[in-house]
Amino acid sequence: MKKILVTGGCGYLGSHAIVALQLAGHEVVSIDNHVNSSPDVPGRIQSITGKIFRNYVVDLCDSHELEKVMVAESPFDGVIHFAAFKAVEESMSAPLKYYQNNLIGLLNLLAACKRHKLTNIVFSSTCTLYGNPDSLPVHEGCELRPESTYGKTKWMGEEIFRDAAATGEFKVIALRYFNPVGAHPSAMIGEFPKGVPANLIPYMTQTAIGIRELLKVNGNDYPTRDGTCVRDYIHVCDIADAHIVALEYLLNGQMQHNFDVFNLGTSIGQTVLEMVQSFEKVNEIKLNWVFGPRRKGDIIAMYANASKAEKVLGWKPKHDLDSMMRTAWAWEKQLQRER
Ligand code: WQD
Repeated sequence: MKKILVTGGCGYLGSHAIVALQLAGHEVVSIDNHVNSSPDVPGRIQSITGKIFRNYVVDLCDSHELEKVMVAESPFDGVIHFAAFKAVEESMSAPLKYYQNNLIGLLNLLAACKRHKLTNIVFSSTCTLYGNPDSLPVHEGCELRPESTYGKTKWMGEEIFRDAAATGEFKVIALRYFNPVGAHPSAMIGEFPKGVPANLIPYMTQTAIGIRELLKVNGNDYPTRDGTCVRDYIHVCDIADAHIVALEYLLNGQMQHNFDVFNLGTSIGQTVLEMVQSFEKVNEIKLNWVFGPRRKGDIIAMYANASKAEKVLGWKPKHDLDSMMRTAWAWEKQLQRER
């Protein structure tokens, strides 16, 4: 059993990672200020794993409060750093908010890790770094040219961790997620967007349940097989499992280098229209949707070459599209029951 710090532990990805960590027998401590998560998540996680964990309601940008947590809880065997703002569109209208939160928080965490000899780090990165790729699928060596401020903060984050690891003081794995969707099969945790969802699947499930009037498919004149954008949608539980595998790879001293990156995708591209049709078919629901205009900043098509994670980490996704759609819908219905 290892003791793992999880930043953003009450968020969508963080909560699923904590479930996986606890079920793998690890002790977890979380730091999450609930700016984009709900305080009831630790209780929800306990209903799944039967285990508790301490969540410190602290902003990583507050280095004094962060230090108090590190003093109280160190030593840790590793840290998974999720805490960040991640809405692509919002990052374009509020860039300074994103640079401040995502970079100052990261730098404070890294300084705290140095002070407390926390050397094993897994960093939550993103496929958004690749921008509009010249060719598909994208592999980890493809050119990084993020177009959104969100993507730039993750690219800069990777470079900060890469340089810190080059000193030999840290071992860091950056995991580049494609589009995480779905929810834990218990329907006790899932994506919990505050306000109007930016992402496709929560907007879809909120339309199906009647919270939203109409789902707009953003653009149907793209150069793709049906005119709508292509993404690599991957079940959030597969992403969570990849964090456990990456952490154990780090902790077991298997890392050949001090820094490495891995794509976490299914290597399958699905169009928005295919996602709508799949949701309707799997859940036997008629969605109220129309074609709308393109959304500013959208990448036309993006999907992964995720073979490196399989070859090096022995990880590959296990959940199919039906499971993504079914668990996303079950979670929305659970939220409705709780309202
Ligand atoms: C997907 C497609 C939209 C809403 C996400 C995360 C980002 C990063 C990468 C992890 C686009 C279309 C959406 C709607 C629609 N993940 N859409 N109607 O932009 O790929 O980014 O994955 O780091 O954090 O945000 O995901 O779900 O917003 O959009 O037609 O109501 O669905 O235009 O083509 P995106 P998304």
